[in-house]
Amino acid sequence: MTQKVVLITGCSSGIGLTLAVRLAKNEKKMFMVYATMRNLNKGEALVEAAGRTLGRTLEIKQLDVCDENSIKACVDNLPERRVDILISNEEMGLIGPIECQSIDEMKIVMDTNFFGLVRLLKEILPDMKRRKKGHIVVISSVMGIQGTLFNDIYAASKFAVEGFCESLAIQALRFNLNISLIEPGPVIAEFERKVVEEGLKTDLSKADKVTADMFMNIYMKNHKQMFETFGQTTEDVAEHTHQIIIMNNPPFRHQTNVLYTPVTTLKYVDPNSDLTTDTFYKMVFEHNKVFNTSLNFLRFLRWRR
Ligand SMILES: NC(=O)c1ccc[n+]([C@@H]2O[C@H](COP(=O)([O-])OP(=O)(O)OC[C@H]3O[C@@H](n4cnc5c(N)ncnc54)[C@H](OP(=O)(O)O)[C@@H]3O)[C@@H](O)[C@H]2O)c1
Repeated sequence: MTQKVVLITGCSSGIGLTLAVRLAKNEKKMFMVYATMRNLNKGEALVEAAGRTLGRTLEIKQLDVCDENSIKACVDNLPERRVDILISNEEMGLIGPIECQSIDEMKIVMDTNFFGLVRLLKEILPDMKRRKKGHIVVISSVMGIQGTLFNDIYAASKFAVEGFCESLAIQALRFNLNISLIEPGPVIAEFERKVVEEGLKTDLSKADKVTADMFMNIYMKNHKQMFETFGQTTEDVAEHTHQIIIMNNPPFRHQTNVLYTPVTTLKYVDPNSDLTTDTFYKMVFEHNKVFNTSLNFLRFLRWRR
C-alpha cells in the first residue's frame, strides 16, 4: 500500500495539531503527514505530541496561508510536489459588535479563513487535477451553515468557505477529486481561550449601551456555558476527520457534534429562515431561563453517557 501524502495547515495548536498526530499514528501507517505552521518557533507542542512519529510519518514545515510564496516553497519542497490529501485548518477568530471592529481586523479574518484556502488551492489543485486524484478536506464550522450572535465576520468567512467549496465540488467531480467540509460545533481548544480573552478586552466605547450590554452581559456569559455544554475535544474532531479521510466515498459535509445538529437542521427545514432567527432571538432574550435549563439538561445527558 502506498502511503498517502497529507498536508495540514495551522498545526501549532488545537485541531490541526491533534489531527496531524492522529493521522501520523494511524495504525496501518497509511499517511505521511506534513504538519505545517506559519511560525516554526511555535512547534514545541507538536514535537512533543508527535513523539516517535516525528521524522517517520510526520514532518514539520513552514507555511503561512496569507503568503503565496510560503505556500509555493512548502509544496515545491515535497517529493514530486505530491499532496494526496490537503487539510485546510487555519483560522483567525473575531467576536463582538462590528462597530467596535476595524475593517483591517475583519480583513485579516477573511484573508486567513477564506483567501487562505483559495491560495492553497491555487497552488495544489492543478496538480491534483492532472493526477485525477486527491481529497480536499476543509475544517469549516457549523457557523458556515448558521450564523450566531456577535460572530458576524467569523461566520461570514466560514459561509464564504462553504459557498466556495459547494461551487468547486461540481468541477472536482469531473477530475475524480473529493471535497469534504468538516463542520465542528464548539470545540474546547486554545482558539476559544484566545477569542474569549480578546472578547473580554473589546473596547465597547463605539457601541450603544444596549449593544454593549448584550455583548458583555448576555453573549460573553452564555458563551462559557455553551462551550461547557456542547464543547467537543480536539481529539473527538480529529477522530471524526480521520474516519472521513479513510472512507472510499467521503461525504461533502460532515458535522462532528450531534448535540448541535438540531440547530443546523432547523435551518434546512426553514427555507425563509425567519423561524431560525426568531428561535435564536427568543432563546437568548426571552427565554434565558429555559435556555439555561436546556443547557444544564444537555450537560447532564453528556455526563451520564
Ligand atoms: N475551536 C472551535 O470552537 C472551533 C469550532 C468550529 C470550527 N473550528 C475550526 O477549526 C479549525 C482549527 O481551529 P482551532 O480551534 O484548532 O484553533 P487554533 O488552536 O487557534 O488553531 C488555529 C491555527 O491556525 C493557525 N493560523 C492562523 N493564521 C494562519 C496563517 N496565516 N497561516 C497558517 N496558519 C495560520 C494558527 O497559528 P498561530 O499559532 O501561528 O496563530 C493555529 O495553528 C479552524 O478552521 C476553525 O474555524 C473551531
